[in-house]
Amino acid sequence: MQENVAGARVVKAYVREDYEKKRFGKANQDLVDTQLHILLMLSYMTPIMNIVLNAAVVAVIYVGGIRVQTAGVTPGNVMAAITYLSYILNGVMMFAMIFQSVSRGMASYRRIKEVLDCEPVIADGSAAATSQKGRVELNHVSFAYPGGNGEQVLTDVNLVIEPGETVALLGSTGSGKTSLVSLIPRFYDVTDGEVLVDGVNVKDYKVSELRDKIAIALQKSELFSKTIRENIKWGNPEATDEQVLAAAEAAQATEFIFSKPEGLDTMVAEKGMSLSGGQKQRLAISRALLKNAEILILDDSTSALDLKTEARLYEALRTTYRQVTKIIIAQRIASVRGADRIAVVDNGRIVACAPHEELMRSCEIYQDIYRSQLKEGGEIYGE
Ligand code: UTP
Ligand code: MG
Repeated sequence: MQENVAGARVVKAYVREDYEKKRFGKANQDLVDTQLHILLMLSYMTPIMNIVLNAAVVAVIYVGGIRVQTAGVTPGNVMAAITYLSYILNGVMMFAMIFQSVSRGMASYRRIKEVLDCEPVIADGSAAATSQKGRVELNHVSFAYPGGNGEQVLTDVNLVIEPGETVALLGSTGSGKTSLVSLIPRFYDVTDGEVLVDGVNVKDYKVSELRDKIAIALQKSELFSKTIRENIKWGNPEATDEQVLAAAEAAQATEFIFSKPEGLDTMVAEKGMSLSGGQKQRLAISRALLKNAEILILDDSTSALDLKTEARLYEALRTTYRQVTKIIIAQRIASVRGADRIAVVDNGRIVACAPHEELMRSCEIYQDIYRSQLKEGGEIYGE
């Protein structure tokens, strides 16, 4: 149900209504079959118990009748025996009922316990504060997703990013860029090697302290059904309106915000449905900027912006957020050629990390990407 409601547009676009109806019907039928099976079993139980009970009573009357005639047992005794017998059998029947409830309860208890007993893998450490601000270092990092098929996503990655530096990650889709940056706020733990933020291993930080240092705009921007102001302030609930506007200005979002009649008070529909892709991305960037963290990570956050707007955004980052360490993931060379260094990610490895001009001279993969993008639109230089 939930999948179908949330994905209504896709279902309609691909005209899969009938297919989805059948799928839903099948799930329903499964439920009906199971319930029917249980009810059928239960409905056998009552008559069987009744037959047993009444057969026992008949037996007592039969044996009691003979005894009354031959052994001087009184009819009152026989009646008493029948009453006791039905008490006992009723007790047994009740026990069967209780047993059924208990076994159901046990099954539920096991499932609930599984959830409650689940220990978070990412546990707090106890690091002392350091004087460095915004330094990121990856030492021989290897990584595979927990619970995955054990496939290595990152292999022996080494990267040092100095405070205030802008480093871009460039690489084909699925090469491991998102995985690499999600190790910095410790969304996952490395399988090998270490990740240091400000000279301290991320495992030694209190998780909330570590994440306070990092602002991240995710590849798939998450917006909430609140006003634009509240969505941006998510990054820093105490921010004033001026700070919100400054962040929106840097993210090149003010123009579209004020083209709406209600400005910052415009309501955003659930999951940002009422906004365009680029507008969503700019709100997500505003939110990240407002957090005012030492390290800013933009994961493909400008992919839906035109090159001019994107260039203005990066210019604002360069000037207004000069002291912030910036890690920028992008697909287009035009987006990142201004970065201090560009790390070329290929198949889970960093094959080169240097400024644009140097990569153009020395890195074959980079030249390939450059040529393919030049062919597609010739927009390599943005402005
Ligand atoms: P990434 O998500 O790191 O790739 O996945 P990427 O470089 O950012 O790609 P784009 O540009 O956003 O498309 C790297 C590998 O990790 C696996 C994927 O199958 C992919 O091969 N992966 C990713 C998982 O196994 N589990 C996940 O939760 C995410
Ligand atoms: Mg990605």
